[in-house]
Amino acid sequence: GKVAVMMGGSSAEREVSLMSGSGVLAALLSQGVDAHPFDPAEKPLEHLKSEGFDRVFNILHGPFGEDGTLQGALETLGIPYTGCGVMASAICMDKWRTKLLWKGAGLPIPDFELLTDNSDFDAIEAKLGLPLFVKPSTEGSSIGVTKVKNPGELKAAYEEARKFDPIVIAERFIGGGEYTCAIVDDKAYPTIKIEPATEYYDYQAKYFRDDTVYRCPSGLTPEVEQRARELCLAAFRVLGCAGWSRVDFLMDEEGGIYLLEVNTNPGMTSHSLVPMAARAEGLSYEDLCVKVLAAAHV
Ligand code: DAL
Ligand code: MG
Repeated sequence: GKVAVMMGGSSAEREVSLMSGSGVLAALLSQGVDAHPFDPAEKPLEHLKSEGFDRVFNILHGPFGEDGTLQGALETLGIPYTGCGVMASAICMDKWRTKLLWKGAGLPIPDFELLTDNSDFDAIEAKLGLPLFVKPSTEGSSIGVTKVKNPGELKAAYEEARKFDPIVIAERFIGGGEYTCAIVDDKAYPTIKIEPATEYYDYQAKYFRDDTVYRCPSGLTPEVEQRARELCLAAFRVLGCAGWSRVDFLMDEEGGIYLLEVNTNPGMTSHSLVPMAARAEGLSYEDLCVKVLAAAHV
C-alpha cells in the first residue's frame, strides 16, 4: 500500500520533525515501501484519502501531530497510523497530567508544583530547592524550559514557559544523570545515558551539538537496568501507549529512578535516541522504521 510519512507540521518542533521525517522516508524507500512525504501544514488531511494513502507513518512532533488531534482525524478517516492512539497521545503531550497519572499509579516521579500567576514563587523555590526546572507542560525538545539556579529567578522562568503553554510546572532537580528508554512493540530496549556538555540536554544539545555524549549500554548495573526497563514499560502501559514511544527518566545518586515524560513520536534524527537503542538491540534504522510501520493500527 501507499504510505504517507507525516512530517513538518506547524508546532515549535517543525524543524525537528522535518529532520526525523526525511530519515524515516529514506529508510522506508530503501526497504521498497511506497512512501511519500506529507506535510499537514502544506496540505489538507483530506488529501490522504483522495491521493489513495492507506497507512500513515506519523513522525510529527508536538501539538496537533503528537497530541491526539491528528490521531482522532485518522481514526475518523479509517487510516491506520503508527504510534499511540488518541488518549495516550493527548495525555503524554501534557507533562503535568502524565505526572498525575503516574503518581496515582504509584510510579516514581520527581516532586513538582504547578505554577500559575498567583503562585507563591518563593515558597515553591524553598520547597523544591535549587536548581530546579521550569517547563511548559505541552512542548517538546526542551522548548521553553529553564534551569533555575539562582534565588528569585523562578518567576521569570515561569513567564518564559508561559509563552508556550498556559500550564507550567516546576520540577525538583535530580542529580544522578539523565536517561531514556525506547519501547517498541511493547518491549523495552537498552537504556541510554545522556551526558550533555551543556548545562542540561537542551535543544542545541539534542539536535546540533556533537559534544553530547550518549552511552548505550548506559552503564547501569544489570539490576538497575532491569528495574529501569520494567518501570518504563509500566509507565508506557499505565498511559495506554501503543506501538512505540520513548520514556525519559532521571537517576539520583542512590540508584533511585524518577520518570519524566513519554515522547509518543520520538525523534528519528541523526542525533536521536530510539535509533541508537535499536542498534544496541541489533536493529538498523531501516529495520526500526519497518517495525514501527508494521505496528500501525486504527
Ligand atoms: N520531542 C522530541 C522529538 C523527542 O522527544 O525526541
Ligand atoms: Mg518530549
